[in-house]
Amino acid sequence: MKPGIFVDPAKDIPRISLARLPTPLTCLERLSKEQGGPRIWIKRDDLTETAISGNKLRKLEFTAGEAQTQQATVLITSGGIQSNHCRATAIVAARLGMKCHLILRGKPDKVLDGNLLLDNLVGASFTFATAKQFKTPDQLYADVEEHYRALGEKPFSIPLGASDEIGLWGYIECARELKSDFQHLGIHPEHIISAAGSGGTMGGLIVGNVLHELNSNIMAFNVCDDEAWFQRKISRDIRSWIKRYKRELPDQPINIIDGYVGPGYGRADPHVYETIRHVARVEGIILDPVYTGKAFDAFLQELAKGRFRQASDIVFLHTGGIFGLFPHRDLFADALLTDAATPQP
Ligand SMILES: Cc1ncc(COP(=O)(O)O)c(C=O)c1O
Repeated sequence: MKPGIFVDPAKDIPRISLARLPTPLTCLERLSKEQGGPRIWIKRDDLTETAISGNKLRKLEFTAGEAQTQQATVLITSGGIQSNHCRATAIVAARLGMKCHLILRGKPDKVLDGNLLLDNLVGASFTFATAKQFKTPDQLYADVEEHYRALGEKPFSIPLGASDEIGLWGYIECARELKSDFQHLGIHPEHIISAAGSGGTMGGLIVGNVLHELNSNIMAFNVCDDEAWFQRKISRDIRSWIKRYKRELPDQPINIIDGYVGPGYGRADPHVYETIRHVARVEGIILDPVYTGKAFDAFLQELAKGRFRQASDIVFLHTGGIFGLFPHRDLFADALLTDAATPQP
């Protein structure tokens, strides 16, 4: 970009306005004081909408925009049984008068709960796949597409987490919003931190950090897989974005902090539940055990180890996920019952 001439990078990219933007950027005053380190800010992307809420909505504005440009009638996507992305896609489809088919990994829960309850409510159709089938999803997608084509529909397939070159625009645009947040607040955060599940949020922020000149370090805690997986996935998405939109971008670091996946995707150590409860009580912010709570707990551990000693301001991106909290109610019950500070009747 030439200095002084701002060419809107997202100009002419198909987009449907779905999210309530901009989301607030607020300082967690009490938690920052308690931790005794840099000011911790939270970008409230859990507030992009009520039921569709979370980071996926930013990506889906562009994904659904492309689907409508192609005159698609059915959105197909995939994820875990309690996928926030699948729930967001199902609601977006209903909002736009389209059909939605979800390919979900695992067996449906006996009781409809959390995201799966909402998927059902808005009329999504389902394919339940085994973990083995899910490892090579192309055939699953092809079968579902074929089914809808035979019915005279026009399917549009969205990869896991809407993390591809189209979905990247969601967080490229979020970087633009952050730039304006920082200018209004007069801050220059050294780090922007998020959870990484399929990499699209981090990939978009990495590109947006350059295009919108944030000069921050983009960092993520992976909640599944490992650092090598995310390095490969995010570089591939960025390369596809460069190719498709004919842009240039110097090589960027992909700073994944590995080591906090715990017992696995969708499961968390008791420590994470404790952190979720603590943040809820100190700041009234609700995190979830699968993504934001796991990443925030990891962030606090790294803060305690001194990783962010030099920083003055850090932004934690709250990517949503509240509906994934409810199926974990039993684990919270344990944490709550062991709370010695709760007065007994
Ligand atoms: C609540 C929440 N936070 C974070 C993420 C991770 O985002 P990404 O898949 O773009 O890495 C996801 C989805 O995977 C999510 O549902």
